[in-house]
Amino acid sequence: MKLTNFIDGKWQDIGSTEYTPVFNPANGEQLAEVKLSTMEDVNIAVEAAVKAQKKWARVPAPKRADYLYEIGRIMKEKKEHLAQVLTKEMGKVIEEGRGEVQEGIDMALYMAGEGRRLFGETTPSELADKFAMSVRAPIGVVGLITPWNFPVAIATWKSFPAIVAGNAFIWKPATETPMMAYEMAKIFEEAGLPPGVANVVFGSGSQVGTAMIEHPEVKVISFTGSTETGSKVAELGGRHLKKVSLEMGGKNAVIVMEDADLSLAVEGILWSAFGTAGQRCTACSRVIVHKDVREDLEKMLLEQMEKLTIGDGLDETVKIGPVINKNALEKIHSYIKVGQEEGATLLTGGTILNEAELAKGNYYAPTLFTNVTPNMRIAQEEIFGPVVSLIEVNSLEEAIEVNNGVKFGLSSSIYSRDVNKVFRAQRDLDTGIVYVNAGTTGAEIHLPFGGTKGTGNGHRDSGVAALDVYTEWKSIYIDYSGKLQRAQIDTQVIGG
Ligand code: UN1
Repeated sequence: MKLTNFIDGKWQDIGSTEYTPVFNPANGEQLAEVKLSTMEDVNIAVEAAVKAQKKWARVPAPKRADYLYEIGRIMKEKKEHLAQVLTKEMGKVIEEGRGEVQEGIDMALYMAGEGRRLFGETTPSELADKFAMSVRAPIGVVGLITPWNFPVAIATWKSFPAIVAGNAFIWKPATETPMMAYEMAKIFEEAGLPPGVANVVFGSGSQVGTAMIEHPEVKVISFTGSTETGSKVAELGGRHLKKVSLEMGGKNAVIVMEDADLSLAVEGILWSAFGTAGQRCTACSRVIVHKDVREDLEKMLLEQMEKLTIGDGLDETVKIGPVINKNALEKIHSYIKVGQEEGATLLTGGTILNEAELAKGNYYAPTLFTNVTPNMRIAQEEIFGPVVSLIEVNSLEEAIEVNNGVKFGLSSSIYSRDVNKVFRAQRDLDTGIVYVNAGTTGAEIHLPFGGTKGTGNGHRDSGVAALDVYTEWKSIYIDYSGKLQRAQIDTQVIGG
């Protein structure tokens, strides 16, 4: 199977002739080949998008929303198929694959609803016989750069608000997971979306990403990926005066206080640390635990970690699938030595799994470090795999300080039954998302998604907040007085 670009409503194999293989991380099988596009392909896509967007912006928003309802309906119809493709190319277990597709369906329906809202404001003018309001205006062509760990959900967080608001988009999916983008392009086609509104251009960040950022007609870049790449996107985007929305790394912690329900905390930690094999930007990679319950928590975690089944995510009994590729496997593994050299104690895991069938894929053992101190590299850097560091603290204040003492700020969680502690924590945890008595993952699509510090640059995916990325505010003043009225001059009445 050869995956080629979807541009202007057609499958186009022009421009570059280079292709690269796509592998199943569970068993190394080749699934497809994907086009490695160049600037030429991007230029063709942008040209089509510019033309299409002009007409699309004139389609009433509730009508634009109808296409999203249709996209959501088709996704629902194909849910199982999409989940299977997702698991095959990305590796997450099938239950999570279904969950991710559901996240996309929810986003379609939610953003379709926005077609009948897209609220602006009406507000009194300071002058007589004058009317004032603000409306959301589409921006034009937007460029979307998405990661492999959520190959469909994250794309829906970006593309659906973009199109309901009247923009056209060029989507560059990660080269590791192009099949979901191919599936989505087929859905855009089936839903009858006007040609050129939705375009998929496959290829690398350095070629396609750069070409999109540098193209004068691409007005917005929305990127999810590593902090390292994100800052390059921001730098290049800044030079070209682009609006750049960035969603980047995390070093998320679960805080377990002395009064927590420990069994519940253990369940939350396991799910948010080892789900998706730890490859979520929201994944829990630190557990900050009160000294009174540290030993108990450690014991309970170890007991439960032994029960985690590892293997091909298509097997319904498997809890943890593979990591994305050999490079990821090596990067994760390199942190074991780093942790040990810094003085942390490896309680379990720390190995690449090579027995029998597992040797064909990229499997890493769920790993737990203890005796970790807050400044160790394993407690500071994003490992993006199933590795957790346990840090002991003496108080809530210290727990919050440790939580905040990293360069990222995506998600955090506190387990406690003390309402005062919980309220203090939700106020003081410096992350874009805070959970109470739940793990660090599982953000819902109708709330803003994003983080502080090195995680983002002030924008949000999801929720109504996403519309801020894909619209300009336009303020409109209508003077019906029939005479010149001078704002800030003719209004000086009181004490005049
Ligand atoms: C990501 O890891 O990049 O909150 C996104 C969650 C999911 C999305 C994760 N709904 O874990």
